[in-house]
Amino acid sequence: MKATIAILPGDGIGPEVTKAAMGVVQAVASRFGHTFDLPIYKIGGAALDAGESPLPKATLDGCLGANAIFLGAVGNPKFDAEPPNRRPEAAILELRQALGTFANLRPARVWPGLEGCSALKSEIIKGVDLLVVRELTGGLYYGQPRGFAPDGRSAFNTMRYSVEEIERIAVVAFESARVRQQRVTSVDKANVLETSRLWRKVVTEVGSRYSDVELNSEYVDACAFLIASEPSRYDVLLTENLFGDILSDESGAIVGSLGLLPSASLGGTVGLFEPVHGSAPDLAGLNKANPIGAIGSMAMLLRYGLKLEIEAVAVEQAIAMALSTGSRTDDLASIAGTSTVGCTEMASAITLNLSTN
Ligand code: IPM
Ligand code: MN
Repeated sequence: MKATIAILPGDGIGPEVTKAAMGVVQAVASRFGHTFDLPIYKIGGAALDAGESPLPKATLDGCLGANAIFLGAVGNPKFDAEPPNRRPEAAILELRQALGTFANLRPARVWPGLEGCSALKSEIIKGVDLLVVRELTGGLYYGQPRGFAPDGRSAFNTMRYSVEEIERIAVVAFESARVRQQRVTSVDKANVLETSRLWRKVVTEVGSRYSDVELNSEYVDACAFLIASEPSRYDVLLTENLFGDILSDESGAIVGSLGLLPSASLGGTVGLFEPVHGSAPDLAGLNKANPIGAIGSMAMLLRYGLKLEIEAVAVEQAIAMALSTGSRTDDLASIAGTSTVGCTEMASAITLNLSTN
């Protein structure tokens, strides 16, 4: 296959983990006989530093013309005092909206051998394999009106959801559950919020069309508690934008490191694939980042973006193999004295498994 993958390295550790993921996809290309064109575009703080907007037109055009998009991370504390549209994060929010990628899939599972990396006891995290299905283009992130009062003494955001927005993300969750453990937990705050009351009603209606899938609704506070105390109760967690942002980071802590989590943003014109972790400015340039979230996102890009399932599985097996032979980045070094590898070494271990197996 010939395909164009738009590459957006971004900020902080973004460029390092992106380089790792590019090495992997190039190894996939040579092993399976594909040709991948990998044009690189500026985004976020890197674009602001070059005197451009957070999402330059050339970047958006490159993304819209690609078969799939890979993003490292955006965010840089030096822009913290800027207005929202001049912050690196504005780029990713604009990009998700421009692409129409309303469905964000964030799988979290315990990799064999990493049971000791979780802050939780290994008997509690045994068998954890959950998928957060996060609504990505609605809710508080995009609702209007939003802003500061003229005197700067109050501020406001709007949480808004339509029936159509809830329906389409619910369908993604139920379809995902069908090929997993047939369980959907819908997470809301229906005891307080109108948007959540509508959410629960619409999800229940969609659920009635999936008699093979069990549906439960939980309040978000209870869910945050239960993920940390009984994570294996969950299969698919369906939730709105902000709750999904929070719960997916929490699921990273449960499986051992946020650095492990990949994501896919689907449902729009072109799929966008990025690790769940952010730009981690404190780690940038130190060769300490865990590239597995990025490489796992590349596997999701192969699976959902290019429909290359065999190649996606090969990448996931290469990750598992590197972990089973003891490669550990700093974030996974649970046992004192265990020697660790850097981002590039972890990436080479994974790439080597792909070229030789
Ligand atoms: C994520 C990130 C983004 C979000 C930020 C960078 C805007 O935290 O992808 O989880 O909040 O969606
Ligand atoms: Mn987040």
